Amino acid sequence: MATNVLLIGSGGREHAIAWKLRQSPLLGELTIAPGNAGVGQIADLAELSVPNAHASDAEAAAFGDAVIAIARERRADFVIVAQDDPLALGLVDMLEAAGIRAFGPTKAAAQIEASKAFAKDLMRRHRIPMSESARFDDFEAARAYIESRACDVVVKADGLFVGKGTVVPGSRAEAIDVLRSILVEGEMGAAGRTVVIEDMLSGPETSAMAFTDGETVVHMPFSCDHKAIFDGNRGPNTGGMGVYSPPGWLTPTDADFIRKKVTEEAVRAMAADGVLFRGILYPGLFVTADGPRVIEFNARFGDPEAECLLPLLESDLLEIMLACTDGTLDRVDVRWSDQASVTVMVASGGYPGPYERGKRIDGLDAVDSDVVVFHAGTKRGDDGSFLTNGGRVLGIAALAPTMEAARAKAYANVKRIRFDGMQYRTDIGASAAAVTA
Ligand code: GLY
Repeated sequence: MATNVLLIGSGGREHAIAWKLRQSPLLGELTIAPGNAGVGQIADLAELSVPNAHASDAEAAAFGDAVIAIARERRADFVIVAQDDPLALGLVDMLEAAGIRAFGPTKAAAQIEASKAFAKDLMRRHRIPMSESARFDDFEAARAYIESRACDVVVKADGLFVGKGTVVPGSRAEAIDVLRSILVEGEMGAAGRTVVIEDMLSGPETSAMAFTDGETVVHMPFSCDHKAIFDGNRGPNTGGMGVYSPPGWLTPTDADFIRKKVTEEAVRAMAADGVLFRGILYPGLFVTADGPRVIEFNARFGDPEAECLLPLLESDLLEIMLACTDGTLDRVDVRWSDQASVTVMVASGGYPGPYERGKRIDGLDAVDSDVVVFHAGTKRGDDGSFLTNGGRVLGIAALAPTMEAARAKAYANVKRIRFDGMQYRTDIGASAAAVTA
């Protein structure tokens, strides 16, 4: 029997999930809430206001009720929770309590992303390699700690802050300024009431996502995001400006270590602690001269990693997600293309700072038929045209037998798209084979 799906989220990641679900013979009706104009071409949209992870219990409960009402109205058998904030608020628990099957970790398991303290404690107890760090809610104590470190540091809000809670200061003085803005001036609100100060690691960075039902772990290909806004990893961090896969620089030894000693170990450790993790576990790591070190765990698909990896998935995404939820992942054959994949995000002028919305997007009909354009932040104009409606606007995803060819195909298509103020990095995938990614 066909499965009616409700997908919660609104970005390029959700468009990529919906695009892949559409290929499933198991799929019945597909609704996305709140979605965006692009995903609205392949799924029904439902209005939904998604609170952030720091919402009150009453707001979280009202949000859960709203999702349950949409699920019932649309006769959804299965709800996929793709975004960090709803997971942190316990949406999966609320759906399960209402008798609705849901994909994603429970509130307790999603703590691995929502609370850096939870993740650090898990890693410390289970010897998962990570960078040295300490937590503070007092500015003077944090300042003294930064001054005591022999190396540069990264400052992170302890809670979720729209994917932008990590600041990489250029100097120790800048680190103290950042600390003041978060802890004293409250720039990150409730997310930054406590900060984590972490030793800065050096080496290339990789995302190591895996599907899991809490016991079986099925790894996805490794991929690499580009978080800084400008070429050469310069400028402030964004939600992610582009991804490539696979990283040619990652040795089989390091890849094997990450799969076994990081991802599988974390799933096993959580189960041993009585917190079963079901869904997508996504450690982000630096591969340092001393080996891989975890910088964070996420409890969902990366964005834009999903836009880069889902075009490589040859198996049925809905079958995999149902199996993760039902604890039967060991029965599913998950296959990936061995092609190279490059996704380039195009963003509004000014992003990640203030930017304008409502710019008309031209050139979408000139994109090659074997290239996929995932919409991250778009809406429809009165005349039906697509308009910008977010910082990251579109992800242009291309596959090819080599990284060079995938890059060329992605950028040839990016250049056909235009909107006022459009910006993008020109070096996505350029370091795929080098150790300086
Ligand atoms: N690509 C970064 C993230 O999804 O958190």
